[in-house]
Amino acid sequence: MNEEKTIMDYDTVALDEEKNALVIIDQTQLPYHTEILYLTTQKEIWNAIYLLQVRGAPAIGVAAAIGIYLAAREIKADNYDEFYAEFKKAKDYLDSARPTAVNLSWALRRMEDIVTKNSDKIIPEIVEALHKEAVEIREEDIRVCKAIGEYGLTLVKPGDGLLTHCNAGKLATVKYGTATAPMYLGQERGYNFHVFSDETRPLLQGARLTSFELSQSGIDVTVICDNMSATVMRNGWVNAVFVGCDRVAANGDAANKIGTSMVALAAKRYNVPFYVCAPTSTIDMNTKTGKDIKIEERPAHEVTEMWYKKRMAPEGVKVFNPAFDVTDCDLITGIVTEYGIATYPYEESFKEIFKKKAEAGGLK
Ligand code: MRU
Repeated sequence: MNEEKTIMDYDTVALDEEKNALVIIDQTQLPYHTEILYLTTQKEIWNAIYLLQVRGAPAIGVAAAIGIYLAAREIKADNYDEFYAEFKKAKDYLDSARPTAVNLSWALRRMEDIVTKNSDKIIPEIVEALHKEAVEIREEDIRVCKAIGEYGLTLVKPGDGLLTHCNAGKLATVKYGTATAPMYLGQERGYNFHVFSDETRPLLQGARLTSFELSQSGIDVTVICDNMSATVMRNGWVNAVFVGCDRVAANGDAANKIGTSMVALAAKRYNVPFYVCAPTSTIDMNTKTGKDIKIEERPAHEVTEMWYKKRMAPEGVKVFNPAFDVTDCDLITGIVTEYGIATYPYEESFKEIFKKKAEAGGLK
């Protein structure tokens, strides 16, 4: 038996209770180096999110929850109002690290609610309540992703060819990933999927991260360039597409890694079902449509220089580098959540999903 550790044995994002640190795998170093970072200051945590050392919507949310708890521990305040003012400053700072993934503000808002609900308590008790909530947000992510995997698995059959874009895997969450959750559960149950992983320009999350974690788990995975997904679909090699998501608008328009909408368009053309896997924390009912989603734009060097020995575009040429795009809701066959699979028209379907969520009072 191979006793060697694989990437699946490391925590993507965790709290080190002794060091009082946010622990992450530095994803910018993967797949070559598995470097574990212990982050204690707000600046370090902000940078880790901005630089994509920790990335993927759910993982960013968990990192922010742990990050704001660590910040709260350090606040020196004589009374609740002073504490709350400092907490808000730290929260707004972390919230500014990346704009598109709603899980960041969702987790921070959830942590803020803990502060306001406990305003009658002494500060150490509020900090302890924050600690509990950060741990719970992390644990919940595991349960949520597993449930997404179970629903996702009902949509496919053994031996299927699947395609995914970017990394919505273990490295983007705490354990199973969202888009990869059906793949991991299927692997445990002998489904023998064949997965195509788009390399995902410009930061190569598919080539560096998805193919890495899937292959380390023994799943059959083939990396393709982003411009090859239509070909594999046309060849009949793909039975379903599963992608993750950074923010779903109330009408079902879904923002995910740049290039996702092209995959959805090709899938429509070749009659391949296109599923977005999204925890309910990624559904933003306050954002009406995809037009209202703020899309992060990143520096030009990611397109022109990164990964190349020599710069691959002339000096001074203009570059457009949006990190995400929006897939129109009518291209999405289903949105797989931890409370079931929503379908078009999504406004109606989401009502049912959130009703189920309210009735369940949380996934145990
Ligand atoms: O820029 P990234 O690497 O954070 O983008 C990640 C994605 O687009 C993922 O697909 C998304 O966050 C879902 S992760 C479960």
